[in-house]
Amino acid sequence: MFEHYEVFARVGESTDIVRKEMYEFEDRAGRRLALRPEGTASVVRAFVEHRPVTPWKVWYVAPNFRAEAPQAGRYRQHYQVGVEALGSDDPDLDVEVIALLDGFFRSLGLRRFRLLLNSLGGAASRASYAGALRAHLDAHAGELSAAARQTAATNPLRVLDSKRPEDLAVIEAAPRTLDHLDGPDTEHFERVQAGLRRLGIGFELAPRLVRGLDYYTRTTFEFAADSLDAAQNALGGGGRYDGLTEQMGGPPTPGIGFGAGIERTLLACDAEGVFAAPDRAVDVFVVDVVDGSHALALTSELRAAGIRVDRAFDRRSMKAQMRQADRSGALVALIVGEQEVADGVVLLRRMAGAAQEPVARDRVVEVVRKEVGAS
Ligand code: HAM
Repeated sequence: MFEHYEVFARVGESTDIVRKEMYEFEDRAGRRLALRPEGTASVVRAFVEHRPVTPWKVWYVAPNFRAEAPQAGRYRQHYQVGVEALGSDDPDLDVEVIALLDGFFRSLGLRRFRLLLNSLGGAASRASYAGALRAHLDAHAGELSAAARQTAATNPLRVLDSKRPEDLAVIEAAPRTLDHLDGPDTEHFERVQAGLRRLGIGFELAPRLVRGLDYYTRTTFEFAADSLDAAQNALGGGGRYDGLTEQMGGPPTPGIGFGAGIERTLLACDAEGVFAAPDRAVDVFVVDVVDGSHALALTSELRAAGIRVDRAFDRRSMKAQMRQADRSGALVALIVGEQEVADGVVLLRRMAGAAQEPVARDRVVEVVRKEVGAS
């Protein structure tokens, strides 16, 4: 969860994620540490440290921290499930990684999402694009927000992340990365698209998708949920980072991966209703008007048999306990009073219709199981 500050400083000196949103502090030994804002830099740091055999394919699920203004789908602590694959720049690997994430969302039952795809190109293409973009931003400086003007001077690509309304028209008219790809970058991107088509994975070209971190080269992608608010609709995203390992002091090693936001994925699942929500929390409610000890034993036995059960506490009146049974949504109430104890039975009451019958104490689990359909 902690890394040396420098691990992230290198990957995002001019990004909001590192400059404005990263939690950083000094520990007691005076080291400058950061709470991990994302997973890729840590994985690459581990690669450089341990030098595993390539191709190296790893995955993680872990919390990340960003000091953002919390709102639906945007939290200061969020979980990502991610993969990284280091050691090959084969476009088939891009397709494999994208297909894995597409398949993950589909296997959950999600359908209302789109795959946005772009290529930033390698160093030469990126430099050519950055030059054209800077010229465009300079020419329209007067129409940009003050913050965007400042970003344009240090890292023009980051201006494309701006969601400020005043910047949108200039961004819309900005040059496209795809018009600045050199020969090898163009070929790489064409092969990625061909591979996705081959697997039947639909995508939209998003020529201004540069993503919020500086390490990306060539392929970038994002899965956007149509069921979520546009400002927080990225379910997951990723791309290539062919220069990152070298930048961190390792041998030149291309890499690609993705990170998917678990909370956002769950929000999208809720919005699309892909999980059947349980209509009640318990099937059985025990009402004990003797002393509570019968409820204690019954709930324990029923739970051991895998039956969802709750009870009242605090020796409340019969009426109060029955009201609680009603509110719990249980199908069945088991009622124990002095008479039932004397007779060695429990009253089983079906909450719908209120029919009730005595059940021998030692047959309760068996009868209740049949009644609520538990296995
Ligand atoms: P990212 O786009 O910054 O990429 O984050 C990945 C995903 O994490 C987002 O698409 C979103 O679903 C979720 N996410 C990000 N910030 C928040 C937040 N504040 N609250 C809730 N969810 C959030 C990365 O982090 C890269 N490491 C992905 C990657 C892996 N690229 C290459 N390999």
